[in-house]
Amino acid sequence: MDWGMKNRFSQIIRPGTGRCVMLAVDHGYFLGPTERLENPRETIEPLLNLADSLMLTRGVLRSSVSPESNTPIVLRVSGGSSIIGEDLSKETITTSIDEAIRLNASCLALSIFIGSKYEFQTLKNLSKLVNEGEKYGIPVLAVTAVGKEMARDSRYLGLACRIAAELGAHVVKTYHCADFRKVVDGCPVPVIIAGGKKLPERDALSLTADAIQDGASGVDMGRNIWQSDNPVAMIKAVRAIVHENYNAQQAYDLFSELSGLKSTQKRVR
Ligand code: 5RP
Repeated sequence: MDWGMKNRFSQIIRPGTGRCVMLAVDHGYFLGPTERLENPRETIEPLLNLADSLMLTRGVLRSSVSPESNTPIVLRVSGGSSIIGEDLSKETITTSIDEAIRLNASCLALSIFIGSKYEFQTLKNLSKLVNEGEKYGIPVLAVTAVGKEMARDSRYLGLACRIAAELGAHVVKTYHCADFRKVVDGCPVPVIIAGGKKLPERDALSLTADAIQDGASGVDMGRNIWQSDNPVAMIKAVRAIVHENYNAQQAYDLFSELSGLKSTQKRVR
């Protein structure tokens, strides 16, 4: 890695610990005005300084984030399909590298759809993006998107993560699953997890702690933070797991304390 690439990468994954808390607010690129992200500025503002980096599209970046913010930007540059369209996997690269540089992106993010009708197209997109990113020292995050019909198991996710890394992704986002260690061990670059659909906070914190214990480098989490009734407390609890090695119960206690709830269960795991 050259200096620029290393510098940007270290803004995404903390040097020393290799951990990261990325806040995902890119959902609108195919879901439209997702619940509690209808007004992105309102959702992002209280969380911005608590995230190590922010993942979003150029449209939301320009309209809803102050250019004076110091939070590193992970720019989603793939899209082209919607939740009601023909096929979600039919994505292209939507944002040029020149634009990404103008927007001072620290990382570029793109989805791949392994096993889908448009697998080849999305892998071609990834390869092209990595080539462009390498030219200018910008790392690439590959998002292993999972179609409804795909099993979220270690075999499938391991395949998707490994292919992403082989094509040059610098970091890969996937989902936690049983035998997650196999996914991490089979992927030569850092693996971070998405939170997925909103869960009760205790469950989302357990998922995070399990993933970290199984070797994940951190999270790229959205709905389980900003769809919580207490998003600030939630991101702080997630940070405590990722950066301070809290276990799930300790993190839930912290969440409860910060959000004015009482932790009722004393179980420590
Ligand atoms: C959508 C994405 C999201 O950023 C990703 O799924 C993370 O968000 P969440 O934690 O809400 O699942 O890449 O394609």
